[in-house]
Amino acid sequence: MSTKNDVLQTLMQQEVAISGERLARRLGISRNSVWKAIEQLRQEGYVIEAVTNRGYRLVSAPNRISQPEIERWLKAETIGARMEIHETLDSTNTRAKAIAATGAPHGYLVIAESQASGRGRFGRPFFSPEHSGVYMTYVLRPKMLAEQAVMITSMAAVAVARAIETVADVDVKIKWVNDLYVNDRKVCGILCEASMDFETGQLEYAVLGIGINVTAMKFPAELADIATSIENECGKSVSRSRLIAEISNQLEALYGQLETREFMKESRERSNVIGREVEVSRGGERFPARVLDIDESGRLVIQTADGVSRVGSGEISLKLIPD
Ligand code: BTN
Repeated sequence: MSTKNDVLQTLMQQEVAISGERLARRLGISRNSVWKAIEQLRQEGYVIEAVTNRGYRLVSAPNRISQPEIERWLKAETIGARMEIHETLDSTNTRAKAIAATGAPHGYLVIAESQASGRGRFGRPFFSPEHSGVYMTYVLRPKMLAEQAVMITSMAAVAVARAIETVADVDVKIKWVNDLYVNDRKVCGILCEASMDFETGQLEYAVLGIGINVTAMKFPAELADIATSIENECGKSVSRSRLIAEISNQLEALYGQLETREFMKESRERSNVIGREVEVSRGGERFPARVLDIDESGRLVIQTADGVSRVGSGEISLKLIPD
């Protein structure tokens, strides 16, 4: 961690003011470095009181994602334990791919406060305004065939649903295969991209991108009817840093099930498409279908005019038809 983050972490742990001298001694740095870190934090919007003869006290934190705040809630030891936080990136998936290709370790997490070109499935843009969402990507190195990579998305959907329900009083549903819904509107999209070894068919690495609308916000007209945010739905403020930690905790808890696929039971229970009429888009064509089930390989079992068939997540996208 940087000196700034060390100072912030110490201030967060303190109930009362702490002198610059004690801070410096505790962290093994100079008083000048403490002063510089305090100034940097103030510039980022932290309100830090300087009380004469007693020292510094953290009064309030801005709505910022911070590593010390994430670490306060983090139990996971591998997934999300090492991270980098950027003010802005084109796309956290793009950055994660670049560092995965040069050896970033399993579990490494890339976070951005905003994305200039956040993207979703089928190259769709993902709305990523600053300081209002969670935009992040994990580098994962599971030992599995690339064709099974959809399991990572299904596992992540369950993990993120659980994490959101831990920090906010809402019910989270999964719209197969990569969207999370609260009260019939989308709060989260997941984009897992994989690199494979063509000789063995094994995954070299996967990047697991997660985008969540968190703070209370007004969406642009084209999204207003289909998107929502966690705070819009629960009416309370949610710490984005805590949410990130809870997602890492849940991912680590479920990661061991990638082979056994036990999470598929919860994935089905949380599904908002099983038993529903949907419109399927495949290439340029669209047709109505009824969703019968999601099978153990994560494929959708649908009934159409042509009979029952199974389709993979890369082939189609779905639109829910209101009951
Ligand atoms: C979708 O809605 O189809 C998936 C959206 C995934 C968005 C996240 S935000 C973090 C990561 N970086 C990206 O560019 N995309 C994913």
